[in-house]
Amino acid sequence: MTVQKKTIPEIKARKENGPKISMLTAYDYPWALLVDRAGIDMILVGDSLGMVVLGYPDTISVTMDEMIHHTKAVTGVVRGALVVGDMPFGSYNVSAEKAVENANRFMKEAKADAVKLEGGKSMAHVVEAIVGAGIPVQGHIGLTPQTASALGGFKVQGKSAEAAKALIEDAKALEDAGCFSIVLEAIPAPIAAMITESISIPTIGIGAGKDCDGQVLVTHDMVGLFDRFTPKFVKQYAKISETISSAIAEYKEEVENGSFPEEKHSFTMQAEELDKVEK
Ligand code: KIV
Repeated sequence: MTVQKKTIPEIKARKENGPKISMLTAYDYPWALLVDRAGIDMILVGDSLGMVVLGYPDTISVTMDEMIHHTKAVTGVVRGALVVGDMPFGSYNVSAEKAVENANRFMKEAKADAVKLEGGKSMAHVVEAIVGAGIPVQGHIGLTPQTASALGGFKVQGKSAEAAKALIEDAKALEDAGCFSIVLEAIPAPIAAMITESISIPTIGIGAGKDCDGQVLVTHDMVGLFDRFTPKFVKQYAKISETISSAIAEYKEEVENGSFPEEKHSFTMQAEELDKVEK
């Protein structure tokens, strides 16, 4: 069956026409295959890679080369979903020129369809430069994990009237700079609803309530594969680490007691050939 690749205009049109936009992360071939087969609209190769796959304490140390490597593994298999490559810390905050260079790498080397970067007003000139170079950009405001320490930790953002107004201005600045959509992370639901109302591009919420135009989750969180911590906004749809752990324990037991492998897992050969070896 031929699968139609999602396009930026289709994603934008969903704000008006629905249905709501679904987005999940993937970082490698098997997960990208599962997410794409399920018909998810957008796949984010997030820099959450650093925490849920590479075991780093945060996302700061994720490199461009790591992001390119994993984005390639995803785009190699995805047929329908729009693939967004997440620009890691240090890849777009030096200069607009450097940001365009790195966004080009996502497109040319990793075959991404778009890039995402964190920041509001202060990053609008960078978004403008990347969009001007012909590369679609997804914004990301609210809790921005790359700068979490400057925000006072992994905390809900926009809780005071002043902070909420600043977020609305950030969203408008990103829309004006040319973003095709904006991720809203850890923002009070009524403020996310106001932002969604006030801009013409889709908002994709993560911990931002039900009124966003779409939702995104880290796949390893929602299937219960990352258990270092689970943010409040995550719904766990499965607990696959329990399933995997019990499979591994069963395998160990069967290897130790000799019940694996069985005959059906083994290879035979012609008896006369075997005889010749045994003589
Ligand atoms: O890196 C990531 O997975 C993200 C999502 C949390 C939106 O940026």
